[in-house]
Amino acid sequence: MKEGVKMNTIIVYYSKHHGNTKKLVDAITEKYGITAVDILNKEQAELEKADIIGIASGIYAGSFAKPLLKYLSRNLPEGKRVFFISTSAGPKPGYEKSIRALTDGKSCEYIGSYSCKGFNTFGPTKLFGGTAKGHPTDEEINGAVSFFSGLLQK
Ligand SMILES: Cc1cc2nc3c(=O)[nH]c(=O)nc-3n(C[C@H](O)[C@H](O)[C@H](O)COP(=O)(O)O)c2cc1C
Repeated sequence: MKEGVKMNTIIVYYSKHHGNTKKLVDAITEKYGITAVDILNKEQAELEKADIIGIASGIYAGSFAKPLLKYLSRNLPEGKRVFFISTSAGPKPGYEKSIRALTDGKSCEYIGSYSCKGFNTFGPTKLFGGTAKGHPTDEEINGAVSFFSGLLQK
């Protein structure tokens, strides 16, 4: 384990549009040597063994990715400590509603969340070269790493 991580953390993620969310996840896993599981590519996670589970997703139609929610509704064990990471064209607190309802429904303890902008070319926005260009920035990616590091100190 790098950087003295004692807790067993797994991050499950879904990052389909431009790999924006994956950039945050990769930065955390590279620094801390923890496991990340790509739900889009049907990787399997041993969530039962984790103390902390990170849930990371791009925002699609105002929600964490539906396939990720489906996966977690089947596979997220009860009572885990959970945190959320997301990227979207324009982050809003309401985007966490569906995932929070799911984790609360499994008696998981919410320990925090991090969100930032992610480059978007969905629908007509691509005609103008997309929105949130250049995001996540290096600063935003480092922000995700600092967020995770803060969680470990709690
Ligand atoms: C189908 C689709 C729907 C989207 N819906 C929203 C949305 O409701 N709100 C928003 O702020 N961004 C929305 N976006 C933009 C994405 O959230 C943003 O580009 C995000 O960083 C994508 O993450 P990813 O590259 O990890 O998949 C949408 C993008 C796509 C492709």
